[in-house]
Formats: sequence, C-alpha cells, structure tokens
Amino acid sequence: MLGSGKGSNFVALADALAAGQLPAEVALVLSDVEGAGILGHASVRGFPARYLPPGKFRTKLDEAAEAAYLGALREAQVDLVVLAGFMRILKGEFLRAFEGRVVNIHPSLLPSFPGLAAWKQALDYGVKFTGCTVHYVDQGVDTGPIIGQRAVPVLDGDTAESLHARIQLAERELYPAAIAAIARGDVKVRGRLTSGFAG
Ligand code: GRF
Repeated sequence: MLGSGKGSNFVALADALAAGQLPAEVALVLSDVEGAGILGHASVRGFPARYLPPGKFRTKLDEAAEAAYLGALREAQVDLVVLAGFMRILKGEFLRAFEGRVVNIHPSLLPSFPGLAAWKQALDYGVKFTGCTVHYVDQGVDTGPIIGQRAVPVLDGDTAESLHARIQLAERELYPAAIAAIARGDVKVRGRLTSGFAG
C-alpha cells in the first residue's frame, strides 16, 4: 500500500482485514512523506511500513526512487499495489512492472473531475451527486478501467470540507469491498470494461 497522507483508507483496509472481510495480507506500506499518518497507523498495527524518499521531482518519483520503490515491492512479493492518497503520478517503468496490478481510489465519480481536489471541483461545478471511484491505474491520470463507484449527494450548504468528509466515508466502505473482490478473483477486466464487483 502506498500513501502520502492521513491513512484513513489504510485504517479501513486494516479494519476489514482484522474483521476477516478481506482475504489478503498487507505485505508493505510505503510513503513518500516522512512521518505521514499512514506510516504511523501501519506501524502501530504491526505492519511493515517505511518512508522511501521520492527524489528530486514534486509530482512523480525520480529514476532512483522508482527503482527503490520497485525493489521494495518486489522484495515484499506483492501481488497488488494499492494506492491510498499517494500524491505522485506513477509512470512507465513502474506500471510496466506491475501491469494491471495497481489500483487507486479517487474522490469523484470518474470520468468527472480527475486530478487534484476533486471534491472541490465537483462543488464548484454545481453537480448534485459526486462520490468516489476505485479504478485500475494506467498511463493516464485517473483514466484506468473503473472497478467500482459509490455516489454521495452534494447538499445545500456543503463546504469543500463537509463534502470531502462525506466522500471519505463512502471511500472507507468502497475500497475494502473492491479489494476483497479483486483478492477473491472476482474482478475481470476486458479492455476498459470490468465486471465482478457491483459496488
Ligand atoms: C482520499 O480521499 C483519496 O480519495 C485520495 O487521497 C485521499 C487519501 O486519504 N486519493 P487517506 O490518506 O487515505 O486518509
């Protein structure tokens, strides 16, 4: 699992694991942010977790960092790379190494509002529903095959913060359920289309 932030999605996954709802193991948690919440949550629960420096760029891993991330993930023999608020774009070499085995959660109903602060984009646009999307990661930004989505209403008087909080509650249900479906082998991908998970 790769994350840069608070780690609320990690906590939801760890809780699902502890409850026996997720036929998977957390092999490794990596963060590009020293002291990120996700590392703390992982460590206190006894999962291997560490900071790996991202290198010299702001929005992606540099070549040496990409090699370090790949090395660590291979060493841990991971089957699936789960992104949870990892704020760097993963590119060619990384995605080739884990082709079809990287998933992400995005805080909007894709393909609407890709990119940063998607909840704010939705609020500013004036949509009445937004939500979250679990998708496979491809070479684009938030463009890969959609595995599952949850909708939430945008309410009168919502602020960016209140809408984001509502979306994050939906994320905490959707992500563990989607990963459980992948782990069970239920999710099939044909081109852009996936089947096997209704969430
Ligand atoms: C989530 O809101 C997710 O949609 C986005 O980054 C955030 C990560 O939050 N990709 P957390 O670190 O899991 O709390």
